[in-house]
Amino acid sequence: MLEPTMNDKLKDSINKRILEMKRRVEADSERDFSFYNRPIEDVSGGSKVVIAGQEMGMFASYSYLGLIGHPRIAKAAKRAVDEFGTGTHGVRLLAGTLPVHRELENTIAEFKNAEAAITFSSGYVTNLTVISTLLGRGDFVISDKLNHASIVDGCTISNAKFLRFRHNDMADLERRLESLPLSAGKLVVVDAVFSMDGDIIDLPRVSELCKKHGAWLMVDEAHSVGVLGETGRGVEEHFGLSDAVDIKMGTLSKAIPASGGYIAGSKDLINYLRYSARAYIFSAALTPPQAAAANEAFKVIVDEPWRVDRLRQNFRLFRDGIRDAGLDTLSATAGIVPVICGTDDQAYQVTRLCQRAGVFVLPVLFPAVPPGLSRLRATVMATHKEQSIKEAINVIAESSGKVLSSPLGSV
Ligand SMILES: Cc1ncc(COP(=O)(O)O)c(C=O)c1O
Repeated sequence: MLEPTMNDKLKDSINKRILEMKRRVEADSERDFSFYNRPIEDVSGGSKVVIAGQEMGMFASYSYLGLIGHPRIAKAAKRAVDEFGTGTHGVRLLAGTLPVHRELENTIAEFKNAEAAITFSSGYVTNLTVISTLLGRGDFVISDKLNHASIVDGCTISNAKFLRFRHNDMADLERRLESLPLSAGKLVVVDAVFSMDGDIIDLPRVSELCKKHGAWLMVDEAHSVGVLGETGRGVEEHFGLSDAVDIKMGTLSKAIPASGGYIAGSKDLINYLRYSARAYIFSAALTPPQAAAANEAFKVIVDEPWRVDRLRQNFRLFRDGIRDAGLDTLSATAGIVPVICGTDDQAYQVTRLCQRAGVFVLPVLFPAVPPGLSRLRATVMATHKEQSIKEAINVIAESSGKVLSSPLGSV
């Protein structure tokens, strides 16, 4: 057999992928469309940022409640560094568990009205490890078509049969559930607030269907904790339900200004994950400042209820303003406001005009969203002032108007 030459390696599929991305990034840069991976130099309290020396209103943040830099949270993180240092002695199962981890898990369990909770190093990892740990060969996982990539990846790596149902379509979900063997292990997974469209899952109906068909229900609350419900406790509070969700998943990286992910649920479920989830057993624990910051943040949400209230008001002001300007925001209901631009190029152009005018928004393109529905994915925070929201609406409306009415599709 002939030995592969350097020339063969340069032509292989791995190299093609690397080069394709290089070309794409260079082409975007040549057209002044470099919007991703840019360092934010100053967060100035969160609702304004400085990027490449330019101050802009921040309308692309997941920090919904404006808690980044909150004095109580920052102090808790600093205290944890003084007490425990910056790292742990390894994975949680072995020497990595500190009192601050247990404290955080108790706080989460209480906040989420669950018996117990467990934390992982990120939200992404939480979905991956939990879905693949709970399911095995012969089981079924049924996922909403618009679920986050981390859920899709968790379903893909599990050994279960992976089925999808049409987005938020309860008749389609029911058809799938009815087609499955009665005694098979079944898990239905959904986002609470969908991260591309900002709409809310029909939790009452999903929960009813899961109960009727003996399926477990897992809900990803990345964009609903701090956002939905009178006190920000999430999607069950929003619908006035309790015990509707078996596996309550969330992140510590959005309304909660740290990083990490969690599951809240029954004591037995959490115990099972503590001894079986690979990301808990084989990956290092959350660092002490992350855990302490997250723990304090849940308490701040309870102590400062005005934030959840203001977020809701700001969201309505922003979304309704964008809609009144004649732009398509799909059926956005909470957290995220998609502003439909059309092609990738149009989304890029609207973004560039907005940023030049001092409004920091970012584009989301195909294949993250369907072709022709490329968009700005805008967010507001509890700490935005009414005036800056109104200014942002004007900038987005004017920028979209210029691009979408341009006969050449280019401005
Ligand atoms: C719905 C959803 N789930 C999970 C994640 C992953 O969370 P993390 O960024 O904390 O890893 C995200 C992140 O954006 C998300 O939007």
